[in-house]
Amino acid sequence: MKPHHRKIATSAVVAVGALTVLGIAALGFVRAGIYNVGADDPHLPLTYSMLQQLRDASIATRAAKLTVPADLASPARIKQGAGNYAAMCTQCHLSPGMAPTELSKGLYPSPPDLTKEAVDAAQAFWTIKHGIKASGMPAWGGSMPDDYIWNLAAFVQQLPKLDKAGYDALVASSGGHMHGGGETGMGAHADGPPGHHDAGSMAGMAGMAGMHDEPGTHDGATPPASAHPHAPGTAPHVDGPAAPPSGHPHAPGTPAHDDAPAAPTAPPAAATHRDPAGAPPHSH
Ligand code: HEC
Repeated sequence: MKPHHRKIATSAVVAVGALTVLGIAALGFVRAGIYNVGADDPHLPLTYSMLQQLRDASIATRAAKLTVPADLASPARIKQGAGNYAAMCTQCHLSPGMAPTELSKGLYPSPPDLTKEAVDAAQAFWTIKHGIKASGMPAWGGSMPDDYIWNLAAFVQQLPKLDKAGYDALVASSGGHMHGGGETGMGAHADGPPGHHDAGSMAGMAGMAGMHDEPGTHDGATPPASAHPHAPGTAPHVDGPAAPPSGHPHAPGTPAHDDAPAAPTAPPAAATHRDPAGAPPHSH
């Protein structure tokens, strides 16, 4: 072997050895349970900053390839987005005048308060569609066509400018929770013909255990007085504890809320759910 060949061979052996030692050390770190995965154990500042940069660069690169619809600021888009925002996003991202929730406080990384900061429309679209790994942000693209996601992105542009009254008015005018086909429960729901259960009342969300089977708590026009994790301004949606995962209109990735597991002892609610007479038609 020529001397310089011998040098290369030695270097290669050293490199392979070093990598092996590192690999074993990494495996040991992973397997020994040294790392604390708890959401209440913050990252080191350097780790946090690296993760943030990774996320921001990843989103920016992908969002840059999107074409924002020319009519993004149209009132129709904003209005439609408002209803879905109220139904699907407020537990984590809040709404004007809304206090932080258990979800918004408990998640790490924390969900940004979208009433305070406007997010670039293309970046908002990409994030809403694809979600963010290892965070609470779900990918909604599996259940919502792009147009509806753009409507949410459109709404999110306006949100920091809205006060509670403006927000509530927009949500009320929006037709509620609707995203054209992603709602898996449309035909599968046990409690009646499609298109009736969002009828403009928050009473349907009386999710306290046992309440679903009491006549009168699920059908009215008045919000329940009880402490309930849904916030004011949350749009009406379906809370039937009995709905099986596949037959339930919430999108995949919807965080746990008191739909299903909260009422293990309550009898199925599907049969007792009724809407007020003359409930306006709506979208499931
Ligand atoms: C279960 C909680 C949760 C729900 C529900 C949720 N998000 Fe998020 N969202 C998060 C978290 C957490 C982050 C931040 C993740 C991170 O920083 O890595 C986030 C990030 C975002 C961002 C990016 C903000 C930024 O500064 O770049 C947008 C936009 C967003 N969410 C919109 C929505 C919309 C719209 C909905 C409803 C369709 C929604 N989210 C529902 C938890 C949630």
